[in-house]
Amino acid sequence: MDYVKKMTAKLIHDALVSMNMNAPPDTAMITDTLEYPPSPENGDLAFPCFRLSKALRKAPAVIARDIKENLKTCGIIEKAEVAGGYLNFFFDRSEFLRIMLQEILKKGESYGSSEEGHGKTVVIDYSSPNVAKPFHIGHLGTTVIGHSIKKLHEFSGYKCIGVNHLGDWGTQFGKLIVAYRKWGDEQTVINIGIDELVRLYVRFHSEAEADPSLNDLARREFTKLENGDPENRKLWKWFIDISLNEYKKTYAQLGIEFDSYRGESFYYDKVPAVLEKMKERGILKTDDGATMIDLEEYGMPPCLVLKSDGSTLYPARDIAAAIYRMETYNFDKCIYVTDAGQSLYFRQWFKVISLMDYDWEDRLVHVPYGKVSIGGEKLATRTGNVILLKDLFRIAIEKVSSIIDEKNPGLENKAEAAEAVGVGAIVFHYLSGGRIKNIDFTIEDALSFDGNTGPYAQYTYARTCSILSKLDGDQSYRSGTDNILNTADEEFELIKILSLFPEKVKAALDGYEPSLITRYIFEVATVFNRFYHNCQVLGAKESAVRNTRLMLTEATGHVLKSAFGLICMKAPEKI
Ligand code: ARG
Repeated sequence: MDYVKKMTAKLIHDALVSMNMNAPPDTAMITDTLEYPPSPENGDLAFPCFRLSKALRKAPAVIARDIKENLKTCGIIEKAEVAGGYLNFFFDRSEFLRIMLQEILKKGESYGSSEEGHGKTVVIDYSSPNVAKPFHIGHLGTTVIGHSIKKLHEFSGYKCIGVNHLGDWGTQFGKLIVAYRKWGDEQTVINIGIDELVRLYVRFHSEAEADPSLNDLARREFTKLENGDPENRKLWKWFIDISLNEYKKTYAQLGIEFDSYRGESFYYDKVPAVLEKMKERGILKTDDGATMIDLEEYGMPPCLVLKSDGSTLYPARDIAAAIYRMETYNFDKCIYVTDAGQSLYFRQWFKVISLMDYDWEDRLVHVPYGKVSIGGEKLATRTGNVILLKDLFRIAIEKVSSIIDEKNPGLENKAEAAEAVGVGAIVFHYLSGGRIKNIDFTIEDALSFDGNTGPYAQYTYARTCSILSKLDGDQSYRSGTDNILNTADEEFELIKILSLFPEKVKAALDGYEPSLITRYIFEVATVFNRFYHNCQVLGAKESAVRNTRLMLTEATGHVLKSAFGLICMKAPEKI
């Protein structure tokens, strides 16, 4: 659409010049003001003339009429009509189809991508679960929103580094070490994996309620770990490996890979140098033994960096990590994706970065998302009100498998397809609403496959593949781009929605809002299915019509596949 918008803007610009307007807006400005009329009777693009009123000292409707009278002809615009203060443009539909199909088919899966971020580097810190704690539905947000934000940046030409800032340091390891020595054994941990670690951790908490001295013991074990005690180090490393192993299975199901797994532990020994710098700047304060940076002046509680026992705190490690990442990657942006509960926390330490006289606080971006509850209740590991991601995915995959068994028993790669669709259903469901909205998650909703769902979208993609596969590799339909003919409204409706993909990518990127892509996918799927229902594709008699429709089918496939990739959804060709 970009090209068509620019052409239309150029026509408007030239008309304003021939109207002798003094300093008319340039084509880029006009392009930005062009709007999509809400209904087709008002044309395909509209130019609002209100803002020109002052400069031209005429009523907007008069300006619209004057522009229309001075408009040169051009292939793409069939006619222009004045409606109030707007000048509405109607495309020559066949010409529009020709221009857009040519562009989409030429670019294929890169259609919608851009070079906007060329030469820029973005670090995206996402997922980042706390080791030895269950990986549950509460982590789905950071994982899929984070990954989608990464994909949107990559698609827009940025160099991206996806970082899993594992929660692999902190007093919880002291607790786990104590619990493992008291109640655990090696073989059970090997056999059961992370669930056993979680069980031990939960047991620690309940036992410590009765016997608080366990907490002191845990603190001592953690200090030993910090001081490099070899036994504790070995256990700690082992707990991490077991947890990571488990997380990686879930990441694989989502098609996610990280560029770095440097977690909190990587930074704790970098904290002293950071504290030194803070001291030089005169911003460190001790209160009740703890070390902190006072932020009262900025209306925020203090940012704590060291406990009274001298161990490093979460913010200290984040500050050290940001400095390390700046030194290592020289990022233009470092994006943190966490739930909105951590918003204040990020504002606090972002401020500390500038108090340390670094000039890149504005390159740090926190992208928050809404909280998840289940059945109206807060998530809570201890009461069991959690849904583990692995269970959720398993249930979804089982449901899809049984549907496939029933509807398409002969399908090859059944297991692969069931995984792609089952996991895709959950992701699509999760990313359907704006990210900041709180979500009350229920398995029933996530696995209801009616209407606006991942399976519906994936099924539509598979349909485009199936139509094209009937041609047995014959691609002659693509060679007839000057032979394109519009004969049905549905074709035009479809190409119009496909033409919007680059703008949707840009909007999702700028707003850190994957749901714009999810919603767009649903629109494309709906419009394609209407087209498919009402227009014969393979069976079309006239060759120009058949070619046009096949090209539309291929173009839809490219757009859907690319869009799925942007939201962590796989695109099986057969379901
Ligand atoms: N591990 C943290 C948690 O589970 C999230 C880490 C987010 N990233 C960061 N750099 N603080 O809450």
